[in-house]
Amino acid sequence: MQTILITGIDKGIGKVIAQKFLSEDYFVIGTSLQNEVDFSDENLKVFQMDLLSDESIKNCVQEINNFNKKIDILINNAGVMVDKEETTVIKEKLRKTLEINLIGTIDFTEQILSEINEGGHIINISSSAGSMSRTGRESRMPNHYPSYKISKIALNMYTKTLALRLKDKIIVSSVHPGWVKTDMGGQEANLTIKESVENIFNFAITKPETGQFWFKGEKYPW
Ligand SMILES: NC(=O)c1ccc[n+]([C@@H]2O[C@H](COP(=O)([O-])OP(=O)(O)OC[C@H]3O[C@@H](n4cnc5c(N)ncnc54)[C@H](OP(=O)(O)O)[C@@H]3O)[C@@H](O)[C@H]2O)c1
Repeated sequence: MQTILITGIDKGIGKVIAQKFLSEDYFVIGTSLQNEVDFSDENLKVFQMDLLSDESIKNCVQEINNFNKKIDILINNAGVMVDKEETTVIKEKLRKTLEINLIGTIDFTEQILSEINEGGHIINISSSAGSMSRTGRESRMPNHYPSYKISKIALNMYTKTLALRLKDKIIVSSVHPGWVKTDMGGQEANLTIKESVENIFNFAITKPETGQFWFKGEKYPW
């Protein structure tokens, strides 16, 4: 039985990714900002983690280490958009966004790296908002959520640099999940969570070219 580690499984895309992998006979280790999640399974173990807190990340990694299961797939899913209505960078919102979407996510990944099996796959859930070439007129919201965009573009560079470092050992990918009906995406989004998660699942279990940006299993422009 293979093991997947997913951050932010209490709601939205992360919750349905966890449920999909459970239904496909994976052991799922999930992290949640809350202490618990509203679903259970004999093959599910949940640990509390707040990506805003160095101490919380360290404790969570320690608990996962003690749990003693090597990881085949890591999906860094947890993330925030705190400047949805803004068109200018608000310093405090930028700081919070970067702390969660970038710095906390990197800190967690680096600390858990030794638990990931060779041949494994790390997926950073990015966004089309983190595509430099789609920032202009092609973007649905060209002027909005600048801090979120900055965080996802920087996360994409982490994907690139980590992929180079882990070459021939662990595959590292950035994945755009689509515009999805969640608390973050809103109900006017054009993909259901289930549709998005089918694409993520089908992609996560493949062995793609490392260090690339993907959407629905196809390369996406940086
Ligand atoms: N929905 C879209 O259209 C869309 C599009 C492109 C990319 N994405 C990306 O997809 C991923 C999942 O998004 P979603 O739409 O499922 O969003 P969501 O429903 O808002 O879920 C976000 C998840 O991140 C967790 N989280 C928030 N702050 C955290 C913190 N400080 N520490 C740890 N976990 C924290 C949340 O926990 P709580 O429930 O406790 O807050 C929740 O589990 C995100 O990385 C997002 O940027 C989404």
